[in-house]
Amino acid sequence: MAKTINIQTYGCQMNDYESDRTYRLFHDQYGYSWNEDPTTSDLVLFNTCSIREKADQKAMSTIGSLLKAKERNPKMVIAVGGCMAQMKGKEIQERFPYVDIVFGTHQWTQLPNLVFNVQQTKTPSLEIDLTSWKNYKFLPFDKTEEPYAVRENVTIQNGCNHFCTFCLVPFTRGREVSRPAKDILREIEILADHGVKEVNLLGQNVNAYGSDRTGEMKFSKLLSAVAAISGIERVRFVTSHPNVFDFEMIDVIADTKELCNDIHLPIQSGSDRILDLMEREYHIDQYRRLHDYMRKRIPNLSLRTDIIVGFPGETEEDFQQTLNAVKEFDFDQSYSFMYSPRPNTKAAKWKEQFIEKEVAGERLIRLQSLQQEIHDRHSKAYLDQAVEVLVDGTPKKQGEGWLSGKTQTHRTVNFEGPKAWMGTLQNVVITDTYPNSMRAVVAP
Ligand code: 5AD
Ligand code: SF4
Repeated sequence: MAKTINIQTYGCQMNDYESDRTYRLFHDQYGYSWNEDPTTSDLVLFNTCSIREKADQKAMSTIGSLLKAKERNPKMVIAVGGCMAQMKGKEIQERFPYVDIVFGTHQWTQLPNLVFNVQQTKTPSLEIDLTSWKNYKFLPFDKTEEPYAVRENVTIQNGCNHFCTFCLVPFTRGREVSRPAKDILREIEILADHGVKEVNLLGQNVNAYGSDRTGEMKFSKLLSAVAAISGIERVRFVTSHPNVFDFEMIDVIADTKELCNDIHLPIQSGSDRILDLMEREYHIDQYRRLHDYMRKRIPNLSLRTDIIVGFPGETEEDFQQTLNAVKEFDFDQSYSFMYSPRPNTKAAKWKEQFIEKEVAGERLIRLQSLQQEIHDRHSKAYLDQAVEVLVDGTPKKQGEGWLSGKTQTHRTVNFEGPKAWMGTLQNVVITDTYPNSMRAVVAP
């Protein structure tokens, strides 16, 4: 009987991508089929995240919950990989001796061998070497029979060279490595052949794409090349860094219809003093210059951002500056987080400057309620407007006959229409707005 696999994925879209490609690899090359239930699977993979402390705790508790299943079925192989495994490899082995394989962020392509070895030798393994980061290997990709979604992620770069003082990523994923453009473009061509209409290009610092590879195309060229692939209707990308974003990229986005008028540009704080402490390598003025040029060049731009509140030493005045920045830049959405000290990072050592949880929590609520007000105001402006939606699924709440999709600006829209419209662009008119979605009718 075919072996079964289950993958538990935590964290960011890069993890989603790695889990998806790993599943396809095990399915195509080794005949594994998907099993919804980890407790009855032959192989259970944990793709973990470590960005904030909560992420660590979540994965740890699910790994713990597999002990009984492993006792019932000792042949089950449990492998824990990704960012938390990179950081806490030894600890995971000690805490969960029944875990067979612990592997880091650079060992995805070795995983089939690691699984094979443990099946043969029954000896646990720990593979978390990050020192040879230059040899980072991207997961292989070839067409598979497994279905694709309308929107697919495609990793274009791994790692980060910035070392912001709060961030664990450079320690978990290593330095920036760009994937060869020819591999990226080939993968997207295959996806387009399989009906994929939108791609989301992924990397920790996508704007720096290509700078680590001699002779490689730069990010704006890559964007144009992806947008030119026949069948690809929409292109997005995350994550950008304000210090590496430039006017040329903005021009390409403005002049290319497939590049969505949706930009995610993390600001992290509105205070120059805090940005310096974060070692973000820009000030609000520089962010403002980019913002003003984006607004000038890209009509109906939806600007999204990431913000950390309660960074060590953040005063009420610093926080006010963050609120001011949210108002000034009129973000459509912000992903906001309470600062979480991470091992090895500089800011984690500034214990005396830590902000009390209650103060940080209260700031987070104020920030989120301001952001919701802005989001709602933007939503109202959609009423009675015609927008183009890429149909990508069916809404959970409404029943038969309903479709759901996204605008270029990353808003979710639900409306009635035939299933055959899945994967097509439709013009609809917005009739109602809700906190996280909108309702529409098909345009006459
Ligand atoms: N604490 C809180 N938020 C963090 N982020 C990254 N590291 C931390 C941390 N230590 C946030 C940043 C980043 C997003 C992915 O997660 O805002 O942009
Ligand atoms: Fe982390 Fe800063 Fe790199 Fe982003 S740019 S991954 S926040 S170190």
